[in-house]
Amino acid sequence: MSQLTMPKGFLWGSASAAYQIEGAHNIDGKGVSNWDEFVKIPGKTFKETTGEVAVDHYHRFKEDIALMAEMGLKTYRFSIAWTRIFPNGTGEVNQSGVDFYEAVIDECLKYKIEPMVTLYHWDLPQALEEAYGGWESPQAIDAYVNYATYLFNAYKGKVKYWITINEQNIFTGFGWMTAMHPPGKFNDEKTYYQVNHHVFLAHAKAVLAFKEIMPEGKIGASFAYSPSYAIDSRPENGMAKLDHDNLKSFWWMDVYAYGRYPRTALRYLEKQGVAPTITEEDSKTLHVAAQKVDFMGVNYYQTATVEYNPLDGVTPFGEMNTTGKKGTGQVTGVPGVYKNPSNPYLETTDWDWVIDPSGLRFACKEITSRYDLPIIISENGLGAFDKKTTDNKIHDDYRIAYLAAHLKELIKASDEGCEILGYCTWSFTDLLSWLNGYQKRYGFIYVDRDEEGGTLDRYKKDSYYWYKEVIETNGASLSVE
Ligand code: BG6
Repeated sequence: MSQLTMPKGFLWGSASAAYQIEGAHNIDGKGVSNWDEFVKIPGKTFKETTGEVAVDHYHRFKEDIALMAEMGLKTYRFSIAWTRIFPNGTGEVNQSGVDFYEAVIDECLKYKIEPMVTLYHWDLPQALEEAYGGWESPQAIDAYVNYATYLFNAYKGKVKYWITINEQNIFTGFGWMTAMHPPGKFNDEKTYYQVNHHVFLAHAKAVLAFKEIMPEGKIGASFAYSPSYAIDSRPENGMAKLDHDNLKSFWWMDVYAYGRYPRTALRYLEKQGVAPTITEEDSKTLHVAAQKVDFMGVNYYQTATVEYNPLDGVTPFGEMNTTGKKGTGQVTGVPGVYKNPSNPYLETTDWDWVIDPSGLRFACKEITSRYDLPIIISENGLGAFDKKTTDNKIHDDYRIAYLAAHLKELIKASDEGCEILGYCTWSFTDLLSWLNGYQKRYGFIYVDRDEEGGTLDRYKKDSYYWYKEVIETNGASLSVE
């Protein structure tokens, strides 16, 4: 039997985000972002780490992209810092910022690497936060669409793939429910859903603007999707899984793909008094934009296990493991609906993230059945403690095993009929993990820096050479039959 591969032209890639790699936080006219401010609050990040320097990609992007080219990368997904383009969120454009990203794009194109641009990877201009509470106000929708439209016009002809919003479910959940991201609100559920509604509208209006400017371009959102399993066959757990999926996954993906909320989840939120206000015009906008979306972007890290959660059960506010001390994360859930216990059949990472390669195939098949959309896996990877040896080698065989297992499942999903356009590992270089400092490493390239600092020199890990071969053989080196 011959070995399976991904389809011809498949976008083998890797991803990053501006705040996590660039540094240069106050250089060349960049404005202040909500993250620049949030990290100053004691206790919010691991060992008070910030992105002020990050891994200095701003000054080293040519070196980093040359390493991508040598590896044979077909696409590089990166985000644009809104504050480099519009330092105050709207108003005057900062030309240096526009030039910086144009240089990054040109550097990719020079090596035939397809640039894939994320418009919003969580770093909101602080000016908008201060003016009207950022995403809490519908005014943020217009500001975002203005910013997005500016970039569509600036880079049209050079950038074909665009991601509107990165992990809307994560930044809103952490921002308005658990206070772990800016603006640091706790259990403000009503605002959380209203904010999400504003972000959906921003996404939708950007999609509509995009299709006017670049009808041939490709656009979608990237969703942090954790497919789920019921813990057993008890009917109450099956129902909990259904409710969990509607509230935790389909609430977002249905809006991107269908332009409407899942009806039973909406009814539940109405009963709780926390449903968003949705006008008829909003519904129309969401619906029309959904017809024009080109793909479902998926950031896949893990699956969830679901069990019924009694009314006096766990809350969404359990501790999250941000230290890498295995077993310190707590079970969370919604009282009266569901909880997410650990899965006895699966291993976890040092940060208690479930390792479930077949969950990636599950995610692709679920999306294909439910939405019939092409898929871009915009993130997948393993955060781990890596060690550099005295002769500057990094033997990350555990990362190779993790990625290989996931890619085998992806190839099977493709063989089973899912239309998968690309796959980006998280991440190309090591970078700042928002809440977990620099010690949680994801890259193919080791960056010599820790929470205190470092030389910022780059070193290829063993996984770098391994992925190079995967790309060269279009996946055949993974020996899936
Ligand atoms: C995703 C984000 O949530 O996962 C990335 O889009 C993030 O920005 C990545 O870094 C890994 O998460 P973490 O918390 O381990 O850095």
